[in-house]
Amino acid sequence: MIVAIDGPAGSGKSTVARAVAKRCGLTYLDTGAMYRTVALRCLQRSIDLSNAEAVTAVARGCDISFGVAEDGSQTVSEAGEDVTSAIRTAEVDHNVSAAAAVPAVREAMVARQRELGSAGNVVAEGRDIGTVVFPNAEVKVFLTADPKARAHRRAVQRGGEAAGADTAEEQRILDDLVRRDRIDSTREDSPLRPAEGSVKMDSSSMTVEEEVQRIVSLMVAAGWRG
Ligand code: DC
Repeated sequence: MIVAIDGPAGSGKSTVARAVAKRCGLTYLDTGAMYRTVALRCLQRSIDLSNAEAVTAVARGCDISFGVAEDGSQTVSEAGEDVTSAIRTAEVDHNVSAAAAVPAVREAMVARQRELGSAGNVVAEGRDIGTVVFPNAEVKVFLTADPKARAHRRAVQRGGEAAGADTAEEQRILDDLVRRDRIDSTREDSPLRPAEGSVKMDSSSMTVEEEVQRIVSLMVAAGWRG
């Protein structure tokens, strides 16, 4: 069983993907974390994100793996170094779309994603899971949400309720989300768009539990007996 969840930044993909994986005993694959790791390594090495060749060399040299922390949360490592927190900064947010738009970078990441998913029973989330990475996924979901709700969610994730109440910070996050969505949706290689056969869900009008139940029912309809 492969469950593909695609959608724009902050639509709640990670939360629902993680919850479905936990409930059904599937492996959670956060593909955005991989593009973030490439962007992080470029920033750390002062590599110009608009230099496709240099960014490609970084991506090809990345050895990305996932692990589990003591509290059960997922960790991301590159060449054995834990980068879980380092890939979630505003600087990485701002630069990651440029790295993800490079076709050779995508090629390297998609190959690694298929390798990680080769054992099956995966919930993978990203932008091109249902269209490119796992086009034969049994369940495909396209998750959206109102941009303001998405920005609020990111602000709260980043700084707690206090940051969520800071409207200037929320506006900055909203501007960055809109900019990122535009780059991710208009790039030539694997743009963000609903996959054929995907079910559209709007998380701004649903609770996480409702989203999980909806996805599990789609899995059951697709033959899941776990
Ligand atoms: O889901 P996220 O915000 O962690 O993703 C970070 C960036 O990576 C996002 O701007 C688009 C890109 N991405 C992508 O192009 N393809 C994917 N499958 C996942 C993420």
